[in-house]
Amino acid sequence: MMDKKEHWENVFATKTEKEVSWYQEYPQTSVDFFKTLQLPLDSEIIDVGGGDSYFIDALLALGYTNLTLLDISGNAIARIKKRLGDKAKFVTFIESDILDFNPAKKYLFWHDRACFHFLTETVQIEKYADIVDKALDKGGRIFIGAFSTEGPKKCSGLDIKQYSMESLRFVFEKEFQLEGCFIENHKTPFDTVQNFIFCGFERKKITKEPTLK
Ligand SMILES: C[S@@+](CC[C@H](N)C(=O)[O-])C[C@H]1O[C@@H](n2cnc3c(N)ncnc32)[C@H](O)[C@@H]1O
Repeated sequence: MMDKKEHWENVFATKTEKEVSWYQEYPQTSVDFFKTLQLPLDSEIIDVGGGDSYFIDALLALGYTNLTLLDISGNAIARIKKRLGDKAKFVTFIESDILDFNPAKKYLFWHDRACFHFLTETVQIEKYADIVDKALDKGGRIFIGAFSTEGPKKCSGLDIKQYSMESLRFVFEKEFQLEGCFIENHKTPFDTVQNFIFCGFERKKITKEPTLK
């Protein structure tokens, strides 16, 4: 059996962008949510398991210049780098399994569409939540999209974990406050539909009780 890195390297070596179910010409749900936050243009933003999706292109078009794309697949990174050409200078590329990621800086926005849902074991999910906590700055936001409980049980032939608003909230609620969720019926290039849930979270504010002197 292929390990997960081999699986993803193979996908990006053998399939064109429109031959994968997750292809989107424009990541509208993510961009719409992102715009509501009105983050400064120099904010540090990371797209986790970003593959060669157009979220980075959309952020560049909005004027953001401190972008990071993390993906397990070097082939995916090579593909998006080539597409971006000169604009790749605004993006830091990290080829890594998300569970091995040791963030060297603090981000203000963490985006993950259809990467987190491949983590099916509790220890992996808890580790992911820990990494998000380490990586995100004060005021940091998360936007996560996963297959919903009405969606498919597999993605790219691999098992995934489906989510509801409650189960996504449960993963992040120790440090993050749920802001809202959106359901999206993603139309694949094969004319099938995949039901996604996207939820946005904001880091909880530390409220200290005043101390008596
Ligand atoms: C279903 S695709 C989604 C790609 C992109 N987010 C999008 O919306 O088009 C999943 C992506 O996550 C990456 N990936 C899967 N498991 C990963 C892991 N453990 N760590 C980092 N990236 C991973 C894959 O290489 C692939 O690019």
